[in-house]
Amino acid sequence: MLVGWGGNNGSTFTAAILANKLHLSWPTKKGTQKANWYGSLTQAATVSLGSGVYIPFSNLLPMVNPDDIVIDGWDISSMNLADAMKRAQVLDVSLQQQLKPHMQNMKPRPSIYCSDFIAANQKNRVDNLISGKKQDQLEKIKSDIADFKKSHNLDQVIVLWTANTECFSAVIEGVNDTAENIKKAIFANHSEISPSSIFAYASISMGCTFINGSPQNTFVPGIVDFAEKEGVFITGDDFKSGQTKVKSVLVDFLVGAGIKPVSIVSYNHLGNNDGKNLSAHEQFRSKEISKSNVVDDMINSNNVLYTPGEKLDHVVVIKYVPYVGDSKRAMDEYTSEILMGGLNTIVMHNMCEDSLLATPLILDLVLLAELFSRVEIKREGASDEKYTRLHPVLSILSYLCKAPLVPKGTPVINALSKQRACIENVMKACIGLPPENNMTLEHKVP
Ligand code: NAI
Repeated sequence: MLVGWGGNNGSTFTAAILANKLHLSWPTKKGTQKANWYGSLTQAATVSLGSGVYIPFSNLLPMVNPDDIVIDGWDISSMNLADAMKRAQVLDVSLQQQLKPHMQNMKPRPSIYCSDFIAANQKNRVDNLISGKKQDQLEKIKSDIADFKKSHNLDQVIVLWTANTECFSAVIEGVNDTAENIKKAIFANHSEISPSSIFAYASISMGCTFINGSPQNTFVPGIVDFAEKEGVFITGDDFKSGQTKVKSVLVDFLVGAGIKPVSIVSYNHLGNNDGKNLSAHEQFRSKEISKSNVVDDMINSNNVLYTPGEKLDHVVVIKYVPYVGDSKRAMDEYTSEILMGGLNTIVMHNMCEDSLLATPLILDLVLLAELFSRVEIKREGASDEKYTRLHPVLSILSYLCKAPLVPKGTPVINALSKQRACIENVMKACIGLPPENNMTLEHKVP
């Protein structure tokens, strides 16, 4: 169930699920295009089994087939999904025409709107709301989840926030710092409880994994506490789709090569509704924070180049330019110190439809969250034989998140290759395969 179902990501994800399931193809200027899952780790990437043998990621362990996913969701805009897909201006028109009959009867459920949390410029979208106080809204979301699960006879429901970026909530002692307090605060209709935290609370109450695809602090300490107490999985924050993904590759490469990045300046401009929402200061701030910490672990890993606590100049700018629509531009300048005081400047210009990058990540988050909810582990040599499920804060999905949420006191890993290796190696361990060590000593002896 998607929160923000009628948005660019929500409608594109729905279209991609259907187009792949129905094996659609459509004419384009360049010829016939077939539906695919390019950009999805689980559906379009492979895993090495050694000796030059590669198999699709999805074949490593039993995983849900995307064709079996049923979608529902909420939006503060009542527009049906066919019209929402048109509004998004992401997919080719001839594909939209084929999908229209399948999507026009899909209508988002009413949602929670709170003008304190998303930008004021979103107001004209609002026509589909749950009435009442926060407690009533919580109960309605819970009954929506139960209704969806029952009416489609589903094995599991996963709730994923792909609605607009909210501003950060203040973390207040006695309000949202513990599971008990946040429950009381919802009852008291406290103004600092955001719509996304209400969704997370509802989802956890129903035993459903909750994924946050946006940067705001939905997972205030009270929500994390609640997930831990209930043993329900939560993961986020913020899809790691474009600029940040490249950054977590490039800086890892530079620092790993002994080159010292000293300044990173990242400009973005985009013209979709996400860009419009982010043009407001408070919502931009959430995104800025989420994008800013991404190089910290790489810097901290090299005490030859950096003194403890040293920071590089890292600036993030986002501008709303309506004309470019969903086709986001990201321009980055990386300046690094090289040998003997020399400077190296790398400039990058990255351009593509934002929702076409985010959609495969939504699929991977859902499929991998489901998969890892079934994995149990035990410490080597542990006295009791009991296997336990993974920690409710599912940090194993960091690869897909810009600002990974991790269990308290555990390290945050942003370097993309490490994040990918984590998923791959844990999956391999499940079938008794060793992690890939890349020594290939067999090729290095005479
Ligand atoms: P969008 O603006 O097209 O869609 C968001 C949808 O959420 C809209 O339909 C809006 O009506 C709805 N909405 C707002 N508040 C709501 C609420 N309380 N309940 C239910 N629905 C609500 O934005 P888009 O492009 O789909 O992005 C969605 C989110 O994903 C944004 O927060 C964005 O920052 C985040 N994101 C997107 C990435 C991308 O590559 N597209 C990458 C990283 C994060």
